[in-house]
Amino acid sequence: MCGIVAYVGSREAAPLIVKGLKRLEYRGYDSSGIAVITDQALKVFKKKGKVKDLEVVLANQNNLGNIGIGHTRWATHGEPNDVNAHPHMSNSGRLAIIHNGIIENYASLKQMLLNKGYEFKSQTDTEVLVNFIEEIQKTKNCELPDAVRLALKDVVGAYAIVVLDKENPGQLVAARKGSPLVIGVGHEEYFFASDATPIIEYTKEVVYLDDLEIAIVNQDGLTIKNLQNEEQDPEIQTVELELEAIEKGGFDHFMLKEIFEQPKSIADCLRGRVNPDEAIIQLGGLRSHIGKLAKAKRIVFVACGTSWHAGLVGEYLFEELARINVEVEYASEFRYRNPIIKEGDFVIAISQSGETADTLAALEMAKSKGAVILGVCNVVGSSISRITEAGVYTHAGPEIGVASTKAFTAQVTVLTMMAIATAHAKGTLSDETYRQLLIEMAAIPEKVEKILEKSEEIKDISKLFTFASNFIFLGRGLNFPVALEGALKLKEISYIHAEGYPAAEMKHGPIALIDEDMPVVFIAIKDSSYEKVVSNIQEVKARKGRVIAIVSEGDRDVKSMVDFAIEVPKTHEVLQPLLTVIPLQLLSYYIAVLRGRNVDQPRNLAKSVTVE
Ligand code: G6P
Repeated sequence: MCGIVAYVGSREAAPLIVKGLKRLEYRGYDSSGIAVITDQALKVFKKKGKVKDLEVVLANQNNLGNIGIGHTRWATHGEPNDVNAHPHMSNSGRLAIIHNGIIENYASLKQMLLNKGYEFKSQTDTEVLVNFIEEIQKTKNCELPDAVRLALKDVVGAYAIVVLDKENPGQLVAARKGSPLVIGVGHEEYFFASDATPIIEYTKEVVYLDDLEIAIVNQDGLTIKNLQNEEQDPEIQTVELELEAIEKGGFDHFMLKEIFEQPKSIADCLRGRVNPDEAIIQLGGLRSHIGKLAKAKRIVFVACGTSWHAGLVGEYLFEELARINVEVEYASEFRYRNPIIKEGDFVIAISQSGETADTLAALEMAKSKGAVILGVCNVVGSSISRITEAGVYTHAGPEIGVASTKAFTAQVTVLTMMAIATAHAKGTLSDETYRQLLIEMAAIPEKVEKILEKSEEIKDISKLFTFASNFIFLGRGLNFPVALEGALKLKEISYIHAEGYPAAEMKHGPIALIDEDMPVVFIAIKDSSYEKVVSNIQEVKARKGRVIAIVSEGDRDVKSMVDFAIEVPKTHEVLQPLLTVIPLQLLSYYIAVLRGRNVDQPRNLAKSVTVE
């Protein structure tokens, strides 16, 4: 939530920062702004709306110097408007700050500053922080890095900040706790950003700042200190991310590109891990943990949003294949519930970004209670991947559309591999089923490709449902989480109210909603609950509901009873979610586009939720 970018070097800062903000817009897009130092003056430009609205404000500005900070916002304190947009300046006009996170004790700090005569223009916690830093700088008569460090000692909350000081036009001071911050190390130039995407065009050398560390960049280069003022050795890493991976590549939207990338992203996820010819499955990151997982009494998945749905699929997989007791928890509930965790329990976080505040906090809590903590993350070097004992990367590549698609299928792919590997180690899978599963897994990318070939057909169906006000998604077993995911996708990007339910639960409530205006999406593939789902379809048809069914290739029976049927190739039952979710992603996408929605940046949402 909120994206930050900063630059100091010999390039023109403003265009570079604005370009970086566009790459980070997935993190928030209700207002944006930059601050620069030019001709010894600190200048701030900010605007409600998207980064392109800020560009209009900057259109008539000439070179604004070689140092600056920028921010794209997802509002927490104070409505989205020009005043609440970042950067925020201190009362004297000497300092400017950008901030991603929440200062929880801002109210008491603000009161203290008000008592001393400070004035506030915005309703933000960030303006309090920059004035608190200024107050310390004045009263202690210290340099900015010390003032930031001392201020942060008294701050409760989460932050990634970068501060600019008019009196020091070659210096940037940054710090983090709980919110991500990457430092790009170029040749006599430095970059700061919430993730590496604004940086990789200029340098692949990065340092991931750790929690409670301060980074100072000036004529002496980069210095990192902790809050006790002890210098830390920066660990420079090389990011393996190519520019084309973060561009639209001819697609109308990132979401569509990411849906169509799934044959490749699933193949990337399987590569080097599943080898059906030699009947091998290996997960490098879990090499020394699979044996322990096989002995686990309990696994708890913690996640939010789409990743939580992947966790539900994981629950079915681990129970079915490895016969392990699994619970799936919303990270935000789990962390505040004083859950019972016994030594040896495995708590596994699932997170695309690896930065979701609740998931991170749930893991930390589980670790403190003695659980073994593992991670399934997409973003390499993310906070979750760094605090976990071990884990598996999903290798889906950067996901920029706010609604998750390829990250979900990659998460399910990883969880399936984990469940198969654990079951194999535990001996709960016959050799034959094990081999069969590996062969079927390797064939998934090709089958996803076949479903994507039906995109025009799905688009035509979407046209008939563009103006629906409600939708119900129903599925059973492994396809119940897929129904939830289908409903979530639709509401996220089209703003149509949609509910996902286990098909049999329909009788306990949702059936009352069914009439000739209610579209009902069934996942009705030929699996062990096929007959039961068919009965549920009959119940909906008897009440005149309009049914779209996701069916197995060649299934004429369901086709004859529903309004529209979308076929998916057959595969092993436990792998079905990887296929059945694809038409639902396309259905939501086309409906949202036809309704004129901004599918990549739906209102009120953000991709990386770094506040609780
Ligand atoms: C936000 C995003 C979702 C995502 C969820 C969890 O709500 O919009 O797409 O599923 O956060 O994010 P994570 O990065 O932890 O998977």
